Amino acid sequence: MKRAEVAVIGGTGLEDLFKDFEVINVGTPFGFSYAIFIGEAKGRKIAFLPRHGRKHDVPPHKVNYRANIYALHKIGVERIIATNAVGAINLNFKPGDLVVPHDLVDFTKQRQQTFYDQAPVTHIDFTEPYCPEIRRVLIKVAKETGVVHDSAVYVCTEGPRFETPAEIRMFRTLGCDIVGMTGSSEAVLARELGICYAALCFVSNMAAGISGKLKYDEVMNVSKSVMPRIQKIISESIERLPKTKGCECSLPTNR
Ligand code: HPA
Repeated sequence: MKRAEVAVIGGTGLEDLFKDFEVINVGTPFGFSYAIFIGEAKGRKIAFLPRHGRKHDVPPHKVNYRANIYALHKIGVERIIATNAVGAINLNFKPGDLVVPHDLVDFTKQRQQTFYDQAPVTHIDFTEPYCPEIRRVLIKVAKETGVVHDSAVYVCTEGPRFETPAEIRMFRTLGCDIVGMTGSSEAVLARELGICYAALCFVSNMAAGISGKLKYDEVMNVSKSVMPRIQKIISESIERLPKTKGCECSLPTNR
């Protein structure tokens, strides 16, 4: 049964949008998903999945990405809007800024992030990792509320430690603008199942070696201050997503 069409994956601070929703855990071949909140808003069936679990107790390298994305697929989700805290590598980006990345680089090391690990050998197309249609809507709505960086390369690290200054210099040389620990695994798995995926990132800190030492408190404080804007952009964007998809993320050639 189709229980949701659009899903939001996020960290803490977004629960307010979904507080009256029903909570379910979905069984998958990869284990149970974390708690998924499902309900209706703006005339659309929506799911909210707190990526680190309801109590925020699962670190980024331990998240069961396959169970989460498969569970969303199983309940009918066709589009995902993710939110991520990121460190800024690009010196033009500042804490509090919003960013909608257009491409990604994967530097994770030990994650299971494919549904295609058996025959037949399958290589999905990933030329455009983020859904252009969701990106367009997010950027348009975000611009109405302030400044947004409308293109950026996201690099995903394994974590949970932050990076070294040398790693950040390397990522900058490679053309990366922002760094996080969760975004690429979700994007790959969503595309493998033909689910559209885009991310609305917020800069919580300058990446390692740019300003002082990194503190998790800093991430949480910036998160609190940008969350009202992010909530607004997400709920408005869900409303404005075209009813039928105009992108190619779900085409068989992409899977
Ligand atoms: N590095 C990796 N992940 C992050 C950062 C960072 O600086 N800030 C928020 N998530």
